[in-house]
Amino acid sequence: MKTQVAIIGAGPAGLLLAQLLRQSGVESVILEARSEEYVLSRIRAGVLEHPTVELLHSIGAGERLGREGMPHDGVDMIFRGEKRRIDFPALTGGKKVTVYGQQEVVKDLIEMKKDFDGQILFEARNVQLHDIESDSPSVSFTRQGEEVVLSCDFIAGCDGFHGVSRPSIPAGRLRMFEKIYPFAWLGILAEAPPAQDELIYSYHENGFALFSMRSPEVTRLYLQCDPEENLDEWPDERVWSELHTRLESGDGFRVNEGKILRKDVTPMRSFVCETMRHGRLFLAGDAAHIVPPTGAKGLNLAAGDVKVLNDALVAFFKGGSTALLDAYEATALKRVWAAQRFSWFMTRLLHKFPDGEPFDAEIQIADLDYFTGSEAGRKTIAENYVGLPFG
Ligand code: APR
Ligand code: PHB
Repeated sequence: MKTQVAIIGAGPAGLLLAQLLRQSGVESVILEARSEEYVLSRIRAGVLEHPTVELLHSIGAGERLGREGMPHDGVDMIFRGEKRRIDFPALTGGKKVTVYGQQEVVKDLIEMKKDFDGQILFEARNVQLHDIESDSPSVSFTRQGEEVVLSCDFIAGCDGFHGVSRPSIPAGRLRMFEKIYPFAWLGILAEAPPAQDELIYSYHENGFALFSMRSPEVTRLYLQCDPEENLDEWPDERVWSELHTRLESGDGFRVNEGKILRKDVTPMRSFVCETMRHGRLFLAGDAAHIVPPTGAKGLNLAAGDVKVLNDALVAFFKGGSTALLDAYEATALKRVWAAQRFSWFMTRLLHKFPDGEPFDAEIQIADLDYFTGSEAGRKTIAENYVGLPFG
């Protein structure tokens, strides 16, 4: 088998890259370890930044997004029992975000890729990268009992945090940074109409809480918990009671209860692998970085990477220039660190630090007051939340 770009991983990063390349007439094949059913059922965050929405529309993936996505003009933030709103369009010259589940984006992109050439190979096992330092790399894998070798010009490592691409770079070449937080999120998906139209981020003495949604019928809610939390200690009644306590500020808003469809625990980590290129291998999305979910940046950051990578690959295939490929790492990292900064800032601003110093806790309250109380503070949050421009 032969293609121009071998893409490892059919998450948002890999699927979006394939679609962007296709628009410019560049061929790709996606190798995905899991089954299509598994990939389609993975539930993750659901906030799309303004530039991500524009990108999806520009590649023709915006039809259902336009119909079913929920545009949000702001978020509420609660601390010390007071609710304050950040108005995105007013603070950013008209920009907003759209709430649309990541698995819906994945579903739309898989449908599109199937339509044109069917080159998503699901259940590709034992994927291995070869000769990435040469001009003719390849990827080998096993599929339906058969050993296959895919020759290519470039490899895009879009295989997430636990993928095979990053470890294929010699260990001595990797520049990595990591921060682990002393808390996690207990998330629930509930069969209950969202009780208001916009998200609520709450700082509470008992810990952070977030009110979000997936559709007019389904609410998504999170509670700060211990990273080692045992879900058996969280029967439904305790979950609802804690959500009411942390999310209701006495203004009449009340979280709607409903059947809990799933409960999960998300660990919180910030991670950057600055080595986003090695030879003919380029990393994009979670393969190169992880953000804590507080800023809702994961998918959006993946979209930024693949936009920059696409432009670089297209410039090479159409004009023979390697300038943008050589600049990929530096261009992508600028936005990566900006999103890391915001995700870290939001995480630090809104969580209760279990062993925090009393002084730091008071500064945190002063920060909450400043960033929600002054126009300059709100503008900083709004500008980052709706998304900084791609590379
Ligand atoms: N071989 C082939 N495929 C692999 C391998 C492998 N060895 N390892 C992982 N994969 C696949 C996974 O099964 C998954 O479908 O790569 C894909 C990676 O997808 P994501 O983890 O979703 O990563 P990415 O596309 O970068 O998405 C970034 O989406 O999932 C969120 O938190 C993530 O919001 C972030 C954004
Ligand atoms: C979500 O809806 O899952 C969600 C929303 C906002 C966040 C994180 C997750 O900051």
